[in-house]
Amino acid sequence: MNKKAIALPLEATLFEKKRLGAFYTPPALSDLIASWAINSTHDKILEPSFGGCGFLQSAAKRLNELGASKKNIPLYGCDIDPNAFHYLANTVGSLVDTSRFVLGDFLTLRKPKSWPTSFDTIIGNPPYIPYQQISPTVRDIAIKKIKNLGFDIDLRSSLWAYFIILSLKYLKEGGKIAWVLPGSFLQANYSRTLIKFLGSKFSKIAVFQIKERLFLDEGTDESTIVLLGTGYRGINKEEPKEISLVYCNSSNDLKKSIKEWQSGNAIEASCASPCLLPWSLSQRLAFFQAAERQIVQFLFSPHVYVHTWEILGY
Ligand SMILES: C[S@@+](CC[C@H](N)C(=O)[O-])C[C@H]1O[C@@H](n2cnc3c(N)ncnc32)[C@H](O)[C@@H]1O
Repeated sequence: MNKKAIALPLEATLFEKKRLGAFYTPPALSDLIASWAINSTHDKILEPSFGGCGFLQSAAKRLNELGASKKNIPLYGCDIDPNAFHYLANTVGSLVDTSRFVLGDFLTLRKPKSWPTSFDTIIGNPPYIPYQQISPTVRDIAIKKIKNLGFDIDLRSSLWAYFIILSLKYLKEGGKIAWVLPGSFLQANYSRTLIKFLGSKFSKIAVFQIKERLFLDEGTDESTIVLLGTGYRGINKEEPKEISLVYCNSSNDLKKSIKEWQSGNAIEASCASPCLLPWSLSQRLAFFQAAERQIVQFLFSPHVYVHTWEILGY
């Protein structure tokens, strides 16, 4: 399927894009992620903030490659921006049942009747909007829902963090997540408990940090993280064990890195020393020592794997 060029209407300025966090994922990245995340024509896929429909187009392409019929492909979505529905009509509109796409705020959404109870895969790139811009009423509703999922979200969390957790409400046991996220996933204090929680909820999870700035054409130099998780544990929780942290120079490296992570061997084979995220002073020290070694390796290797970090009590 040929991808149609998507842009917000001209009058949608950078201001408007920022208000909605509407920075659309480049097709090469959404294609790559959809190829990893979708493995069967029976997979039901949710895109909770589908925007310019890039992920929907990539998912449709992937389902087509897997032999799905060209009608009624199993895609579902939500977006708060009415423009998204113009894009939907102009891109995958003829391939999907459009009643499965709802206009609304994902934070306060009640499961639409047209959606199944749960999905095999949640895929997308949520809005990056600081906590000060989330309405307190919306935030309170979302916090309650998140508590029901067993997590206490930090009040300073950006909107993307709410999306990651709330989407679990719709994920099938054994299901997958595939998200494009901002650099704050690894940097923000509010992310620590979120990472720990995710580590307890998936049997296998990896964070790919991409050095290349992929959103420059969209008007932002935000750095990019790709978060992939498989084997959702549902209400069951285990002690968080390991999350793989993989550095990639570019989205081209990402493809190779995902393959190697998936195979389970290569990360072990080419890993740098174990890396502790900087939670405490001693952990900070360990982190910088490890980082120093990785920088050296980074100079000689197209992509460096930093083997899993342990999530310690913090
Ligand atoms: C970073 S863009 C990504 C769009 C698309 N997922 C992609 O990858 O190209 C974030 C999207 O979130 C939508 N959005 C912002 N706040 C939302 C909310 N509270 N509920 C649902 N969608 C929201 C925006 O309209 C925008 O389309």
